Amino acid sequence: MDKSDIVNEDIREISCEIEDISHNLEDKTVLLAGGAGFLGKYMISTFDHLNKNLLKKPCNLIVLDNFITGLRENVPESENITLIKHDISEEFKTDENIDYIIHAASLASPVFYNKFKLETINAGFLGTRNLLELAKVKNLKNFLFFSSSEVYGNPLPEFIPTKEDYFGHVSCNGPRACYDESKRIGETLCVSYGDIHDIPIKIVRPFNIYGPGMRLDDGRVMANFVVAAIEGKKIPLYRRGNQTRTFGYVSDATAGWFKALLSNEKERVFNIGNDDQEIKMKHLAELVLGLVGNKSSAIEYVEDTTSVYRDNVDPDRRCPDLTKSRELLNYKAKTNLVYGVKKFIGWVEEELDNRRKGLEDKT
Ligand SMILES: NC(=O)c1ccc[n+]([C@@H]2O[C@H](COP(=O)([O-])OP(=O)(O)OC[C@H]3O[C@@H](n4cnc5c(N)ncnc54)[C@H](O)[C@@H]3O)[C@@H](O)[C@H]2O)c1
Repeated sequence: MDKSDIVNEDIREISCEIEDISHNLEDKTVLLAGGAGFLGKYMISTFDHLNKNLLKKPCNLIVLDNFITGLRENVPESENITLIKHDISEEFKTDENIDYIIHAASLASPVFYNKFKLETINAGFLGTRNLLELAKVKNLKNFLFFSSSEVYGNPLPEFIPTKEDYFGHVSCNGPRACYDESKRIGETLCVSYGDIHDIPIKIVRPFNIYGPGMRLDDGRVMANFVVAAIEGKKIPLYRRGNQTRTFGYVSDATAGWFKALLSNEKERVFNIGNDDQEIKMKHLAELVLGLVGNKSSAIEYVEDTTSVYRDNVDPDRRCPDLTKSRELLNYKAKTNLVYGVKKFIGWVEEELDNRRKGLEDKT
């Protein structure tokens, strides 16, 4: 059990949503790379909950992470959860039977991938290749690669909402290229190994997933805005806040990853996120300010110092077409933006409170 009721409720909801397919995990072994990150943590908690409450025979989980940004405490080791510190840009060998591989290792936050460009490329290129090499010698039921909506780059307006078959409008050498191109080559490797070695491949493209468990300091917009509003600081808005995004709440998305992982569909690529409320960043900032209600906080228009959020670099709009995921995976984006943001604010408040108490206890 997590210490947060908000997280525990989410994990119960995810488990209910995938109850009819979760038996596929009985007595299986899953290798999860990047498990100490934001999305990994929710997946691990879901595996743990399924083991304790639903599965007749538990599913074993082997988690790999090099902790470049992930946090060790995100992985609760147990009889069925083994954590191995490993950089997937190096070969990984194991004698265990592996039934599923999930590759969620990367540096998803622009702040971090800007700081660790080569490590980001390595996770997407060498890391994907190494995990696919492992997949070659195992009898996998599925290999799930976490790509990104960033493979679409800055989509032309006529391709929004964006379908999976859009080729993208992406720079191969701009400030975001280390991330975007590592995801694109990662996808190319997956489909090539899949074709040549008959490995079942699933690729998910998350669109701005947010929720409890995000690092509060990694610069992703939702955490950035909510922490600033709660702490009564300025909410930083790049590009006058006119760029849009859609936001997928983590519990809906996590059910989506499991649905892709356990799917027998021939289709390989799926958008996952929320298509309901495409919102300008200035309106998101106003929404957060209104929901937090801290009068000391206010919007501040700023220039980006890292260049990933500049005009012609930062995508203008982002909105998925989820038709394929809905029809083939039975994916549901159930959480509307206001409800999800309220939940997230509740969790950040808890988290900041716990940190304060921790500091007080130490003094
Ligand atoms: N959260 C989102 O909105 C979002 C959007 C698009 C794509 N994604 C993708 O989904 C996946 C998970 O996202 P997240 O938000 O949990 O990311 P995250 O950055 O929070 O976590 C990624 C984890 O991978 C680990 N890692 C990085 N390089 C590694 C390496 N070489 N070897 C082993 N571990 C390594 C990090 O330490 C971290 O624990 C990532 O591949 C990310 O690119 C996420």
